[in-house]
Amino acid sequence: MKKIIIAIDGYSSCGKSTLAKALGKVLGYAYIDTGAMYRAVTYYFLEHEISVDDELAVRNALPLINIHFESSENGNQTFLNGKNVETEIRQMRVSNYVSPVAAVSAVRKAMVEQQQMMGKQKGIVMDGRDIGTVVFPAAELKIFLTAEPEIRTQRRYDEYLHKGTTVDFEVIKTNLLERDHIDSTRSDSPLKKAENAIVIDNSYLSPTEQLEIVLDLAREKIQSLAPPSKS
Ligand code: DC
Repeated sequence: MKKIIIAIDGYSSCGKSTLAKALGKVLGYAYIDTGAMYRAVTYYFLEHEISVDDELAVRNALPLINIHFESSENGNQTFLNGKNVETEIRQMRVSNYVSPVAAVSAVRKAMVEQQQMMGKQKGIVMDGRDIGTVVFPAAELKIFLTAEPEIRTQRRYDEYLHKGTTVDFEVIKTNLLERDHIDSTRSDSPLKKAENAIVIDNSYLSPTEQLEIVLDLAREKIQSLAPPSKS
């Protein structure tokens, strides 16, 4: 069976990872959360007090940052230089600083190189902001997810609540909208829909409904690439 690359891009907290993870599981594909990579870099910068304006410090730090993923019963875990930082990278202080970090070209270059290596063998679902436009412009299937801001905020709010953290609804909403603004207006690889991406507004779709839609699209694509059977 021919393996493909599935790129899932879209706005903050619109369910990209949930969809990408489920797709990877059903298709037996690797799943890569590229947002977690930018978050891990941000966490490193915060811990080492590296400012995005200090070009030299950023350049010196990047080769020292090693990110890998491991799957566990609690889902995909992000490791930074061998330490599990999954909890730390989801904290608000990282969310508040990640967009300026992700706008630095040297950071993007380092992450994109690693992401392209990860997808070399195909059979991968990758979610992010520039996967269909920059990382894998030739991806066989590109999805662009959107959802109404109130609904995205509610989902993120519920996630925090589920983890036992209370964060003000308006604070989350401001953070999401600010990140979307910075991500969409930065000069290097801005968040935008790839021309040939399929847009799905999932405001009123359940995770199962989204999975069904995208699985159908993926299977159709895989089928269309299969060599004709000899009869
Ligand atoms: O998906 P997320 O919210 O965890 O992503 C965190 C930030 O990383 C997001 O604000 C934008 C940035 N990002 C990016 O610039 N490019 C990607 N491919 C993935 C994430």
